[in-house]
Amino acid sequence: TLVLVLHGPNLNLLGTREPDVYGRTTLADIHAHMLERCAGADVRLESFQSNHEGELVDRIQAAGTEGVDFIIINPAAYTHTSVAMRDALAAVAIPYVEVHLSNIHAREAFRHHSYFSDQAVGVICGLGADGYLAALDFALNRLTQE
Ligand code: DQA
Repeated sequence: TLVLVLHGPNLNLLGTREPDVYGRTTLADIHAHMLERCAGADVRLESFQSNHEGELVDRIQAAGTEGVDFIIINPAAYTHTSVAMRDALAAVAIPYVEVHLSNIHAREAFRHHSYFSDQAVGVICGLGADGYLAALDFALNRLTQE
């Protein structure tokens, strides 16, 4: 079983980027915590971050041929702009959960709309780094029930 975790632009700065909004946990910490959560489960976890929309599209397309079973994605600012990433996810038809560290609905109006939510299995926002673990727990439960 293969789970892919995708992180959009500026999430490489987690830990120092607007810590009041996004917390002090780094992306490496998030990946480490997720790996810990997978210990003992027959699951491979891969993580990819990019600041480039096309690279994220390429990674999603590759997931379609690599046998990725589930995607956990924080599209970051592309949440609110990227028809290309939305279309890539629809093309590969891999189920995904959308995660945001902050509660995007409690922020600026332009963050209230997501190009990903209506196609997602579910959406988690506002739980900080714990949101990724919640998404992973969901994925692990779902994949081991199949
Ligand atoms: C974010 C919310 C987005 O609006 C923002 O552009 C981000 C991060 C979040 O995790 O809260 O970069 O996706």
